Amino acid sequence: MAISDNEFEQLRDFIYNICGMYFHTSKKYFLENRFSRRMEATGTKAFQDYFLLLQSTQGSEELTYLMDEITTNETYFFRNVSQLAAIENKLLPELVEIKKKMGSSTLRIWSAASSSGEEAYTLAMILLEKRSKLLKEWNIEIVGTDINETVIAQANEGIYNAYSVRNIPDAYRDKYIREDNGKFILSPEIKEFVTFNKLNLYEDAKMVFMENFDLIFCANVLIYFDVASKSKVVRHFYNNLQPNGYFFVGQSESLHGVNDKFKTVHFPGCFGYKK
Ligand SMILES: C[S@@+](CC[C@H](N)C(=O)[O-])C[C@H]1O[C@@H](n2cnc3c(N)ncnc32)[C@H](O)[C@@H]1O
Repeated sequence: MAISDNEFEQLRDFIYNICGMYFHTSKKYFLENRFSRRMEATGTKAFQDYFLLLQSTQGSEELTYLMDEITTNETYFFRNVSQLAAIENKLLPELVEIKKKMGSSTLRIWSAASSSGEEAYTLAMILLEKRSKLLKEWNIEIVGTDINETVIAQANEGIYNAYSVRNIPDAYRDKYIREDNGKFILSPEIKEFVTFNKLNLYEDAKMVFMENFDLIFCANVLIYFDVASKSKVVRHFYNNLQPNGYFFVGQSESLHGVNDKFKTVHFPGCFGYKK
């Protein structure tokens, strides 16, 4: 179903105001296509009927389905190796020292826009390896959140395909992944440390409750936002962190022009942001 330029703009602005994702005009065909699927599923015939449904009191359930259609959920284990090395070799020892001085033995980590959970579980594997020494008797809390309910359900399930697990180093793979008929099943030992919840990063009322994190990852999602919506979300991340906490975006992303409160910290092959 083709929609007019005016209808595209209505829809684009509606989506932007809900979740911060900004669809440029070049994405008209993509939105048209995803929108048509939902019109077919709901049996609505005209653009305005579906648009009214979305905005109605029953619209929140439909909005969930629309979000599942329009989000890009590409992810895999051990996606950004240089960031992971920085965390393992530099940040964890540093954070442990800082937290000890504060009288705390809890580490809180947030994979914001976690998709099907690979990023959160990768961090869990790395931290679990440190349980015998550096993190002995520490509480480790890892939270994954996403706006898309389908990927949250996949994350909770913890069953992956070959593509997703292809970069896991053998030592971790042997220990934490079991293969069964072409499916790769995560060990309960890893799942135990990670919880997943639905959360829209653009919803201020919910974001203020995400408190006291030592490390926040928000990789490969803000690329879908514009500068204004990025700035709003990153302001929250700054507040969600403990003093001296770290924030990471994806490998090809930066906070240039988005936030000047974070200090940029360089590591071999990557950089992060420190509060
Ligand atoms: C490409 S995936 C990134 C997954 C993982 N962070 C990584 O880098 O491998 C982007 C994720 O952002 C989520 N997303 C998009 N807009 C969001 C929003 N406003 N709030 C929460 N999650 C959002 C999508 O549902 C999708 O799962």
